[in-house]
Amino acid sequence: MSSHQRVRGRYRDTEKTTSSSDSDSDIPLPSLSTKRRTGKYWTDRHATGLGNLLALSFVLWLFAKGTGFEFPFPKPSTPPSVTPKFIEEGIRQCEIINRSIPHFEPSSNKRKENDRYVKGTKPTLLKNGTLWTGEKDGHEVLYGVDILIENGLIRKIGKSKDILLSLKERKDAVEEVELNGSWVTPGIVDLHSHMGVDAAPETFGSEDTNSVKQSVMPFLRSLDGFNTHDLAFNLSISGGITTMLVLPGSADSIGGQAFPFKPRWTAENTPQSMLVEPAWKIDNGTWARTHSWRHIKHACGENPKRVYSQTRMDNAYDFRQAYTHGKELKDKQDRWCTSPKTQTEPFPTSLDWEVLSDVIRGNVKVNIHCYETTDLNSLVRISNEFQFPIAAFHHAHETYLVPELLKQAWGPPPAVAIFSTNARYKREAYRGTQFAPKILSEEGLSVIMKSDHPVLDSRYLIAEASWANHFGLNTTIALNSVTTSPAKAMGLDHRIGYLREGYDADIVIWDSFPLVLGATPKQTYIDGIKQILHPISHEKPVHAQKIPPTGKWDKEAREAVEFRGDQDLRPKKSAKNVIFQDVGEFHLSTNTFAEYDVQTFEEGKGVVIVQAGEITCVGKCSTEQTESGFEIINLKGGAITPGVITVGSKLGLVEIDQEKSTWDGVAPDPLNDGSELTNGLLIHGVDGAQFDGKNELLAYRAGVTTGVAYPKSSSWINGISFSFSPGALHPLSEGAIQSSYGALHITLDNSKTSVSTKIAILRKLLTQDQPEDAKTELTEAFDMIKDGKLVLVVKTDKADTIASLIRLKKEHASKSKITILGGLESWLVAEELAENDIGVIVAPVRSYPGDWNTKRILPSVPLSNHTLPSYLVSRGITVGLGIKEEWQAPNTMYEAAWVYANSPSGIFTKSEALDLVGKNLEKLLGLNTNKGSQTKAWVAHQGDPFSFGGKIRGVKGVGQVEIDLF
Ligand SMILES: *[C@@H]1O[C@H](CO)[C@@H](O)[C@H](O)[C@H]1NC(C)=O
Ligand SMILES: *[C@@H]1O[C@H](CO)[C@@H](O)[C@H](O)[C@H]1NC(C)=O
Ligand SMILES: *[C@@H]1O[C@H](CO)[C@@H](O)[C@H](O)[C@H]1NC(C)=O
Ligand SMILES: *[C@@H]1O[C@H](CO)[C@@H](O)[C@H](O)[C@H]1NC(C)=O
Repeated sequence: MSSHQRVRGRYRDTEKTTSSSDSDSDIPLPSLSTKRRTGKYWTDRHATGLGNLLALSFVLWLFAKGTGFEFPFPKPSTPPSVTPKFIEEGIRQCEIINRSIPHFEPSSNKRKENDRYVKGTKPTLLKNGTLWTGEKDGHEVLYGVDILIENGLIRKIGKSKDILLSLKERKDAVEEVELNGSWVTPGIVDLHSHMGVDAAPETFGSEDTNSVKQSVMPFLRSLDGFNTHDLAFNLSISGGITTMLVLPGSADSIGGQAFPFKPRWTAENTPQSMLVEPAWKIDNGTWARTHSWRHIKHACGENPKRVYSQTRMDNAYDFRQAYTHGKELKDKQDRWCTSPKTQTEPFPTSLDWEVLSDVIRGNVKVNIHCYETTDLNSLVRISNEFQFPIAAFHHAHETYLVPELLKQAWGPPPAVAIFSTNARYKREAYRGTQFAPKILSEEGLSVIMKSDHPVLDSRYLIAEASWANHFGLNTTIALNSVTTSPAKAMGLDHRIGYLREGYDADIVIWDSFPLVLGATPKQTYIDGIKQILHPISHEKPVHAQKIPPTGKWDKEAREAVEFRGDQDLRPKKSAKNVIFQDVGEFHLSTNTFAEYDVQTFEEGKGVVIVQAGEITCVGKCSTEQTESGFEIINLKGGAITPGVITVGSKLGLVEIDQEKSTWDGVAPDPLNDGSELTNGLLIHGVDGAQFDGKNELLAYRAGVTTGVAYPKSSSWINGISFSFSPGALHPLSEGAIQSSYGALHITLDNSKTSVSTKIAILRKLLTQDQPEDAKTELTEAFDMIKDGKLVLVVKTDKADTIASLIRLKKEHASKSKITILGGLESWLVAEELAENDIGVIVAPVRSYPGDWNTKRILPSVPLSNHTLPSYLVSRGITVGLGIKEEWQAPNTMYEAAWVYANSPSGIFTKSEALDLVGKNLEKLLGLNTNKGSQTKAWVAHQGDPFSFGGKIRGVKGVGQVEIDLF
């Protein structure tokens, strides 16, 4: 059906053996002292036995001397070195704890072999690449350069001539790959992942992210819960991920120890074979501590508060108490080691606290999930009280407000590992801003973009860096943020994070400049092994190979700081008369503007005149008479496009997802609530509408002119959706509600009632005529659905469930209008959907097999030719794009651009890609289009709306006369 490559191992090179004998990172453990020991060291308990032994030896020695017979006993000048086992072991432990903190010189050609090298891997010569190496603080770009990969390492980077010379004798043994100038970067490094412990598809049996037995568990190890069958490994590799730090979850104050892994398949097929530089390893029958970094996860703020019903004060006490134990243990150990030989007790240790004493010794990278100023401050105090450095604060949505505080942490300032646009989902994330990466980097802090996979699919971690770049983080730092900077924070920058000779051959070849919107790997190498057996890529336009401009947001970033993340986002300026100059494209090809059709203009030639709120001229317009009294805006080759529609989240009903007091609430089950009053009741989402929130206003500024929301419900019958203007102040303000009675929304997957029961109920509702006295608002809605007068929007992903729905329509309700929302597996039944005229709102746009119902995704390039939307469109289905969470609403337009960039050419024109978030959604959601109201909304983009780096300058909302200007 498609060339979908998703089966683990199918696109892997065969690997024969895993490596084992790495000694790079081992500290040589000195052999035990053979110094002569005398009785005075020993305690009574030992003295008796030893005294006897010595006496006996002496007698035997005398005897032997006399007879000339040589006994196998030491001579008295070197009496027996019989150190008790516990002292020997203790001395070994002292060696380990007293060595210097891990410090590694950058690898060089001295390294002959990667310890993860798989024997039999063919050397590879990547020819004629454009390399972003990570060198010179990320400023170095090498053009027309080759890379020789050998023994799992980057052996040489240079011009082909030199490399080929060095290869003369064995040229035929080398696989040559022509890159034709493609961009090449080091592998993407993810500092915050739960891959393997929060495995896809999520099932009860595979959920091992958080232990909630108690809030302080430094002794837990993510390695112990790491599932090697996670479907995400291959998907993330196809997005360029080559190393990730797998952290325990953030439910606990101290959730446990983290481990760096590479996601590639290994022949051994075990968690330990996927580790990079583990702090311990099984070594020839011993459990040996290496000199590598250890890693630990802490969390502050709302998570431990929620999970353990505690306060922030308890959280801080948790840390103080735990670190007091760690410090006591460290002091005890240090005392023991000052004179091991006088010790009567074994070396002191503690399964519970030993890692914290190692934190205080500086051997552990401390990664702290911590959002808010108050929490950041507590942890900075605690790091000083106990004198340990913090590797990174994660999520850290308020760090941009307190850069100086971070510099007060003990030791070097922590890095900040953040999301780009994922914010406002909980109160401690509410002041988050998309400008944080820019602000923090300008404060000299190390900025790292991370996935928190599967919170964000780490396959698209590069897009986080692109978003950060779009919102003002400069290009070099944006690339560093997913390569060199996380490698440093992980303590692995001596072998990964750079394209550098002697480094692990973890390499990504891109189809465009990696920060360009939609950039996708063509191939990923890990340890020199090609990861994608049959990659598919689409030719990207020439401009996509160029380094894009960094977005200019100085004013907005300053405001975010000035108002502590609570700046007024309402439009502040508007005009009825506007002249847009240098318009590159005009996309309002709907009926309203039929006379204009889609037009493109040569540089500087396109003008659009708006007079009294109406577009009066497009193209070659004389502006001489009109200039006075007009706002003049130069779009720098940008475009006028239709307003965007968002659906799928609770935008318009919820402000902070994890704060119930900010919601409309949850609707009861109209079928089974047990109450006369609610039985058969149809909930109208519009009655819970609430506006003027950050998500709505940000969406409006991003060109979203219509939001569609349906009620949250405890049942599978959600209720009636409504559509609204995201720029509105409240539901009664003018034009706020666009349609109060949209479609009936129901949810089929994942709830207590079985899918088959739901289908049976739907069958009954769609086929039986209710007697007059049994009619309810709900049954009346189904009467309308039967007649095709009301759209039924069904949230479901699973192909089999969609199949039941198709059958239902075919057999019982052929006139009905049904739309699938979600639809991740819908491509499997595309022909049948098309035949029965059922459309799909794909949500989220980029598929991830998060649960059992979404296991069979169409993964898109480089694993499949089609994106899910392009596949469905190519089969004649009406397709729209949706989202899942409120924070995603402002990104909607760029999701359409992503689909456009990564679909096979010829499926969409740009206008058709825009219809995915416009016209098509109107049809699929049954929005009232009689008045053509939605189509009258439009957006003026400065710069290309299909690329990052631009900005929206004007929005004409639905039914508005004034154009809001930004
Ligand atoms: C390298 O690739 C560039 C870009 O495609 C091309 O112009 C150039 O001719 C190539 N050089 C060689 C030596 O193949
Ligand atoms: C492994 O340990 C055994 C027994 O201690 C020893 O004889 C052998 O040489 C060791 N092998 C390696 C490779 O170190
Ligand atoms: C990016 O910012 C850093 C630090 O502010 C600066 O050193 C560097 O030159 C900038 N790079 C570019 C390409 O602007
Ligand atoms: C990808 O899809 C397009 C459009 O359907 C088709 O023309 C092309 O041949 C396909 N390419 C591959 C590699 O399957």
